[in-house]
Amino acid sequence: MAAILIDGKAVAAALRQEIAAEVASLAILREKPGLAVVLVGEDPASQVYVRSKAKQTVEVGMASFEYRLEAETSEGDLLWLIGELNANPDVDGILVQLPLPPQIDATKVLRAIDPSKDVDGFHPTNVGLVATGAGGIMPCTPLGALLLLQSVKTDLTGLDAVIVGRSNIVGKPMAQLLLGAGCTVTIAHSRTRDLPALCRRADIIVAAVGRPEMIRGDWIKPGAIVIDVGINRVGDADGKSRLVGDVAFAEAEAVAGAITPVPGGVGPMTIACLLRNTLTAAKARRE
Ligand code: GUN
Repeated sequence: MAAILIDGKAVAAALRQEIAAEVASLAILREKPGLAVVLVGEDPASQVYVRSKAKQTVEVGMASFEYRLEAETSEGDLLWLIGELNANPDVDGILVQLPLPPQIDATKVLRAIDPSKDVDGFHPTNVGLVATGAGGIMPCTPLGALLLLQSVKTDLTGLDAVIVGRSNIVGKPMAQLLLGAGCTVTIAHSRTRDLPALCRRADIIVAAVGRPEMIRGDWIKPGAIVIDVGINRVGDADGKSRLVGDVAFAEAEAVAGAITPVPGGVGPMTIACLLRNTLTAAKARRE
């Protein structure tokens, strides 16, 4: 039996609708949430993301503040802007688009953001709060992946989850969220021995390695839920390019119980979760 296709576009659209309804009720009180996005340089992929973030922010009724800085911007100037945004009462969320140019220390910049406005959930304070189950802002992509999992199975308690990839942005926080949801979690990475055998034991596989179609159909336990976070552009024989995930989709779909497509799976959830985090931050500031 073919797997259930988890429609990230539809889940994200429903989430944005819920957010828009809550934003409308805050706007009546003249307390419209605001999101500031800072882009340094002209990286084409980052420009596309930033445009999309601004558009969706406005669509749910929030205020969008965009800062496009030259690639040569100094670390000091960026830190000064973050200080201004931290102090600005109209700004509830601050996102500095990564990657940053080489003259800027990204760790220093992310630590300068007020943790209560850190809607990416990258500040060590939020990482610690999430890890200890004490609240905090959850990073957008892992949160989106968790919501997609819960859209097909509300109770994840006791399930074996294997996360392939140990990045700070996806792999590690994903592990914390799945632990919080009651899963038994393994984080696999490039040094893991016999990855196919490890994956075959998993009820849930989250693929976040950035290697096109690395995870094959025969690595997947029949009925497992597969969440593919990878977005890789690959060339076709006819010279065109297409997007593929970290999972060999056609093979995996024949074995899995449920699977996310690429594109149209986790991708649309990331911005929806950014808006959700901005709304949560805005409500917390108004309490
Ligand atoms: N660049 C790619 N993904 C992300 C993300 O989730 N947040 C930020 N700030 N930059 C990114």
